[in-house]
Amino acid sequence: DRTLKIAPSILSADFANFGQEIQAIEAQGADWVHVDVMDGHFVPNLTFGPAAVKAFRPHVKTVMDVHLMIAPVDPYIEAYADAGADVLTAHVEAGPHIHRTLQAIRGAGMKAGVALNPGTPAEAVAHLLDLTDLVCVMTVNPGFGGQKFIDMTAKIRSLCDMIGDRPIHIEIDGGVDPTTAPLVAAAGADVLVAGSAVFRGGSVHTAEVYGDNIRKI
Ligand code: DX5
Ligand code: ZN
Repeated sequence: DRTLKIAPSILSADFANFGQEIQAIEAQGADWVHVDVMDGHFVPNLTFGPAAVKAFRPHVKTVMDVHLMIAPVDPYIEAYADAGADVLTAHVEAGPHIHRTLQAIRGAGMKAGVALNPGTPAEAVAHLLDLTDLVCVMTVNPGFGGQKFIDMTAKIRSLCDMIGDRPIHIEIDGGVDPTTAPLVAAAGADVLVAGSAVFRGGSVHTAEVYGDNIRKI
């Protein structure tokens, strides 16, 4: 299904109220819920581990899309399967054996995603397409929400050509807002992650505001 989907990143939500934040964005039309896992090593920031992700699960009625910005990945795959991830995405830059990692993610019963940092070419996934359900094109250097969008539309178009009619999602992550969303959608992306653009206004629980922000994107 390549229809456009919005995946709010709860990295920009109120960390003391994840349950309410997830329910509010889903009530307002979020298609997927994006969970950013950071280890303070692969990226210079720390967020949630598998126990936290497992606690989010009962609140997520749609797809729980877990983006691992960690290295190594393989020792934690079972833990994120147990936590209830539907899609588990690992970075191609996270280690020498991404092929094995994608096999292990599918082997654990999840959809397998592969993410590309802005400096990594589309060709890095050329030999992974039969093992991949989603390619995540980073449009910021990962680690923090609220960064400026880096134009990767040429990379998105290359990926579309490589993917052809395979059932693989193209997800965009970083700096997606009402201005940049149409650019990446036109280039061929179908899953748009958005953190600060959806949770604008911080910790106030105003589902109407989230909804307006989601619909703008
Ligand atoms: C960046 C994360 C993103 C981030 C997006 O490292 O992977 O998911 O939360 O946030 P915005 O939409 O604010 O750029
Ligand atoms: Zn992300």
